[in-house]
Amino acid sequence: MPGRFFITTPIYYVNADPHVGHAYTTIMTDVIARHHRQRGEDVFFLTGTDEHGAKIARAAEEAGRTPKEHADDLSARFREMGRVLGASNDFFIRTTDEQHMAAVQELIVRMHDKGDIYKGSYGGWYCTSCEAFYNEGDLAEGRTCPIHQREVEWIEEENWFFRLSAYQDRLLAHYDAVPDFVRPRSRMNEARSMVEMGLDDLSMSRAQVEWGVTVPWDPAHTVYVWVDALFNYYTALTYAGDGLVDRLWPPSLQLMAKDILKFHAVIWPSLLMSADLALPEHLFVHGYILKGGERLSKTTGNIVDPFPYIERYGLDALRYYLCREIRFGDDGTFTDEGFHQRYTSELANDFGNLLSRTTKMIERYRDGVVPADPGCDADLAAEATATRDAVRARFDRDDVTGAVEDAWGWVRRLNRLVEEREPWALAKDDARAAELDQALFSLANGLRIAAVLLWPVLPGSCAQVLVALGEPADAVALDMAQWGACTPGARVTPPDPLFPRIELDEVAT
Ligand code: MSP
Repeated sequence: MPGRFFITTPIYYVNADPHVGHAYTTIMTDVIARHHRQRGEDVFFLTGTDEHGAKIARAAEEAGRTPKEHADDLSARFREMGRVLGASNDFFIRTTDEQHMAAVQELIVRMHDKGDIYKGSYGGWYCTSCEAFYNEGDLAEGRTCPIHQREVEWIEEENWFFRLSAYQDRLLAHYDAVPDFVRPRSRMNEARSMVEMGLDDLSMSRAQVEWGVTVPWDPAHTVYVWVDALFNYYTALTYAGDGLVDRLWPPSLQLMAKDILKFHAVIWPSLLMSADLALPEHLFVHGYILKGGERLSKTTGNIVDPFPYIERYGLDALRYYLCREIRFGDDGTFTDEGFHQRYTSELANDFGNLLSRTTKMIERYRDGVVPADPGCDADLAAEATATRDAVRARFDRDDVTGAVEDAWGWVRRLNRLVEEREPWALAKDDARAAELDQALFSLANGLRIAAVLLWPVLPGSCAQVLVALGEPADAVALDMAQWGACTPGARVTPPDPLFPRIELDEVAT
């Protein structure tokens, strides 16, 4: 019985416009969500925006508007990014939603009642870009933030503390019990050593920050923005629809980049234990998209805007490039040349041409009707099943790049089939009509299977492939990636090129 699958992206800060780094996480989450929908699971995909705290208040002030006006504008741009990327999210949460704020208050009251929150005073080096305190020893040269290379400020105030230190043993016990709680393993080890080094209690309210959720028992304080933000994964389910908490909690998979590992692998499970809520099943920590050797970031000033690539090459090309070029879990570099190269040689040549050749041959030699299966390609049928099982197993290990590589291996296998069988030669010899039927059937049916396997990555193009092959555009369940699960007597329609040729010149970013 297919189960539930609740998947999340981090909620993005509304301090600046979305860039390819944010698009990356949203796309990868979408690909995984779509794959699980293909399995027939009850999928819920959550994303949204993180709108409170000093960082956002400062960005709003710089833009000369109120934090709410600023957040409304930027949040809408992130929502629009998701739409343009084809994200199939089921809900978009904003931390300024009233229901979210009320739910955060309820949760921290629960933690307070339990004795996990106490008043104390604290002084530390604060990086507003990270919204986090640093110990002196963790700062970079010149007393700067190790991530943003920006000056940190000394902040000293009385505020409310969460007894994070009390959760140290329970966290380690959880890591032992669920050794792949964080994937890849290197990130699990990193999280474990953070905890083993000892945890300080967490300052979880701010007296000097007005833009946030009010601490219910002490209205002079707002909730620390990370506590407010982390709880979004839970609060969203309390108001995105009826019965969602019971149906979906806890998250099956939560994606993020390594910059926010500690928040998700250490603080987040501790907050949940304190609030008596079940922990997420897995976190997956992917790498950074780099440009010129540096992580894309507004703060470091080297951003890549995804939209010009979409306009020029199409959405599916961007989705494909990110899945394929950057091994999921590792850092990877975004280059115009690499993008163009994969577009031309893989999408246009391997996939687009195969479809146009196949449909044209079926039109020319068989009046556009896919022949019935003569049944002589049992080996190929077995290869198709093996490919589908391999793709599925890759997704089980969060190996999205490997899944695309396996599916592409199948596309290449079909290209070799054209060369091996030479349908144009078979067509000249009436005595070989059955062989031609087999070649054309195997190509059409093989392409249909490729479209099912690649649909999570290339949803628009794969729907077009199916339609060109005379199949329903939505026949994308994983079970359809089965030899012969096609419509008998389907009529093909040679399509316009799926990936038209494009000259390489600078994409204006
Ligand atoms: N608001 C916090 C997250 C709160 S979640 C409870 C935050 N927001 S963010 O806007 O800075 O987004 C960070 C996330 O965006 C990263 O964890 C990652 O998923 C994605 N990325 C941003 N830049 C990226 C790259 N250059 N490369 C890869 N992913 C990137 O942190």
